[in-house]
Amino acid sequence: MKVITEQSELKKEIELLRSQGKTLGFVPTMGALHKGHLSLVQRALKENDALVVSIFVNPTQFNNPNDLVTYPRTLENDVALLGTASEDILVYAPTVDDVYGDNVVSVNYDFDGLEFKMEGEFRPGHFDGVGTIVKRLFEIVTPDHAYFGEKDFQQLAIIKKMVKKNKLPVGIVPCEILRETSGLAMSSRNVRLKPEYAEAAPFIYKTLKSANIKFGTERAKEVTDWVKSQFENHPLLELEYFVIADIDTLETIENKKENILYRAFIAVYAGDIRLIDNLALN
Ligand code: PAJ
Repeated sequence: MKVITEQSELKKEIELLRSQGKTLGFVPTMGALHKGHLSLVQRALKENDALVVSIFVNPTQFNNPNDLVTYPRTLENDVALLGTASEDILVYAPTVDDVYGDNVVSVNYDFDGLEFKMEGEFRPGHFDGVGTIVKRLFEIVTPDHAYFGEKDFQQLAIIKKMVKKNKLPVGIVPCEILRETSGLAMSSRNVRLKPEYAEAAPFIYKTLKSANIKFGTERAKEVTDWVKSQFENHPLLELEYFVIADIDTLETIENKKENILYRAFIAVYAGDIRLIDNLALN
């Protein structure tokens, strides 16, 4: 396992791999790695000759300064966990300075409106920060394939849009959400849940599954109202949003149409920890 902190050194390693004709996979992360991240890593290892995993808590995508400060930083554990998948991973764990220099700002992007829905509405500027760092990392790593989790479905849609608009030469590979046995979507934030909230949090996925069943017979508006009422009655969890949206445009719907795929998206506060999840509807 090579842990590299400077992009100049990483670029040398990548040049060497390229001179050997190797294909390169890339998994960008913010660390505090768990099995969800590892599932992306394992898939990328299978589909490429070599792999770069970046571990970088990107300051420009945090709209809440306290969230940036308290975001878990566990590099040593992260490297050990990656080692369980392969010892042959290039880990890029840079400083803010190595990535941004002294210009720690986001580029303003036009993602054709995707950036204003859901997370974009509640986390202003977040997707400009994500777009800025992912584009920057793509330029440094120059991967053939990059792996993103459907856990952050809107982020995935935005990255796909950025790649298409900028004609970036990288294949984006969506990966399924990994869950705890309780159904709770794995997240770096889960370790910060106080016990009573950790116990309550699987209610989020349970409600998504019930919403999916209801969507078979009821209109989107009725399903949405039902989900809202479930959380109004909940003593611990506070709903921020629940929407049913077209998976391509992320437009919310009132009535479903034929030949369009829908997904339910949710954001919930469990105490001061914000959790998101989503589920494909059938
Ligand atoms: P982070 O939250 O660390 O997530 C890194 C990748 O792991 C993302 O693609 C995310 O969707 C995926 N992931 C997280 N939990 C998952 C789960 N339970 N199942 C499947 N995949 C999961 O997302 C980011 O970092 C950042 O925004 C980043 C893209 C690195 C840019 O800074």
